[in-house]
Amino acid sequence: MVLKNLIKAKKGQAESLSDDVPLVNSGLLPGLEALPTVVLVLDKRTLRVAFANPSAESMLDLSRKQLAQMQWSDIFTNAEELVTTIGAIAEHRFHATHLDAVLERPGREPLHVHVIVGFLEVAQDYVLLELFENERHLKSDREERIHDLTAVNKQLIRNLAHEIKNPLGGIRGAAQLLEFELGARERNDLREYTQVIVKESDRLQTLVDRLLEPHRHPHVVGDVNIHEVCERVRAVILAEFPRGLTIERDYDVSLPDFRGDKEQLIQALLNIVRNAAQALRERISQGDARIELRTRIARKITIAKRLCKLALDLHVIDNGPGIPEDIRDRIFYPLVSGREDGSGLGLTLAQTFVQQHDGLIEVESRPGHTEFQILLPLDT
Ligand SMILES: Nc1ncnc2c1ncn2[C@@H]1O[C@H](COP(=O)(O)OP(=O)(O)OP(=O)(O)O)[C@@H](O)[C@H]1O
Ligand SMILES: [Mg+2]
Repeated sequence: MVLKNLIKAKKGQAESLSDDVPLVNSGLLPGLEALPTVVLVLDKRTLRVAFANPSAESMLDLSRKQLAQMQWSDIFTNAEELVTTIGAIAEHRFHATHLDAVLERPGREPLHVHVIVGFLEVAQDYVLLELFENERHLKSDREERIHDLTAVNKQLIRNLAHEIKNPLGGIRGAAQLLEFELGARERNDLREYTQVIVKESDRLQTLVDRLLEPHRHPHVVGDVNIHEVCERVRAVILAEFPRGLTIERDYDVSLPDFRGDKEQLIQALLNIVRNAAQALRERISQGDARIELRTRIARKITIAKRLCKLALDLHVIDNGPGIPEDIRDRIFYPLVSGREDGSGLGLTLAQTFVQQHDGLIEVESRPGHTEFQILLPLDT
């Protein structure tokens, strides 16, 4: 009895999803309805939309009812290639095929999509279309690249830093001995040179120490409240830039605490916010420099190829000039800097620290708006 009712309920639910009886009877619809990807089912002869799931409604910005009145060519004006592909699938020439398409829509932005067109074994009068926005593809490719690159960088930097560090101590020591000797022989005129060697060795030592920082610190895990991290960073930066800079907060206070290394996360956020403040130099002198710290909860997102049910989504937004175009693709690489006195390590370190928490830093930048996004999984 219960089972019967359940089947009835499912059937009822499926009926409300489409008017096409064979499609409803195929039993496919409730499953397609629940998919997070964009799914459309077309009548293979007329190319009328026989079914659209909620993801399709939201991507196309058209309700199911509106879509049901439409043919493929009403939605997209340039879909010849797709129509040919659908024809080939309908004629059983392939079972499924992939293609990239830019779909023009009347009066709207074109959609850059990756489409999978498939033959439906259980409802042969129909074809199945799965659409992925290409931007998401590009984004996850980019995330993956950042992730792989950081792993390679880490090893390279570590080895290089050790190679520099060892002889550096010797060079500095020898220069000091020489300086002492010169003093004893009253050749103070030459001490200027040894002082240069000592000073430059110290500068190099500081650089090497920063390079080794993420490897030296043990990962200290405790309960972290992200808003305490934000508040600390805010206080430090406001102390460094006391005039002309506003740091606004837009916090989601329902965010839970999580396990992590608080000091590392403070350092990561500090590097990002300090960069923003440094980039805002001109606006600071005008008095309208603005940084926003925004926290949100993200659900069901992919971070570095891993699907997370729950994640922390932290944004640092500034109204500065934007990241210089020539270094925009490389700012997470070590020693890449757009500032004259920059060492180009702040973002490399920030990325490493965030990745040690299985997270990722992303960035979008244009003049007047730079937005860094830190994503940290909360369900590990
Ligand atoms: N919010 C921002 N707006 C504009 N440019 C930025 C911003 N954040 C970073 N950049 C650019 O990215 C570069 C790299 O930043 P990163 O923090 O890695 O190094 P740095 O600031 O130059 O040196 P360091 O942080 O090691 O002292 C910066 O020099 C700057 O040109
Ligand atoms: Mg920096």
